[in-house]
Amino acid sequence: MKFFVDTADIKEIAELNETGLLDGVTTNPSLILKSGRDIKEVIAEICTLVDGPVSAEVGATDLEGMKREGSILAEIAEQVAIKVPLTWDGLKACRYFAEQGRMVNVTLCFSASQALMAAKAGAAFISPFVGRLDDIGQDGLALIQDIRTIYQEYFFETEILVASIRSPLHVVRAAKIGADVSTIPYKVMRQLIEHPLTDRGLEQFVKDWAATGQKI
Ligand code: G3P
Repeated sequence: MKFFVDTADIKEIAELNETGLLDGVTTNPSLILKSGRDIKEVIAEICTLVDGPVSAEVGATDLEGMKREGSILAEIAEQVAIKVPLTWDGLKACRYFAEQGRMVNVTLCFSASQALMAAKAGAAFISPFVGRLDDIGQDGLALIQDIRTIYQEYFFETEILVASIRSPLHVVRAAKIGADVSTIPYKVMRQLIEHPLTDRGLEQFVKDWAATGQKI
């Protein structure tokens, strides 16, 4: 499973990138707002830090606007995945950019039928929002399973990019289903390796090692 970080915060990206475990980055208009930066500048900077796909979302909701904005975002770097919403115009824009050989990330996916349509439109990534489905009392991970089944049945190459992740459990369950990518908030990324027994065990080992008086 590939790990993307869901942030437009350069400090967070730089820190996680140092681990060598980061495969890409996703952003959205809310994350750009939170960064306080100009979208073109911040996306360009992220692209200098990270090798993998960097999703940058259009602000327009009409086809012409998405084509215009998507082309501007695409010019920033080859690794930019143009992010469009799951609407009819979004799917048309997806087809338009996919035919030019560009990666498109279709976002705001909440149903299997939407995911099927995005794959048919040539999306490189489909972004189902698991956390937001859980928030309204539905099972977000059940959607991931449905999409996996459908994509496998028809050999779609669209990658399932699990979004709106709230906890390490979301990541583990998505991995068990065979999702291609998890896009993970910084805080959850840190939580992925935390365990109280690891901390307690290490504390004891450090103490016992010091008591041996040895050095390696
Ligand atoms: O980028 C899309 C997604 O990950 C949003 O997550 O936490 O705002 O539901 P959230």
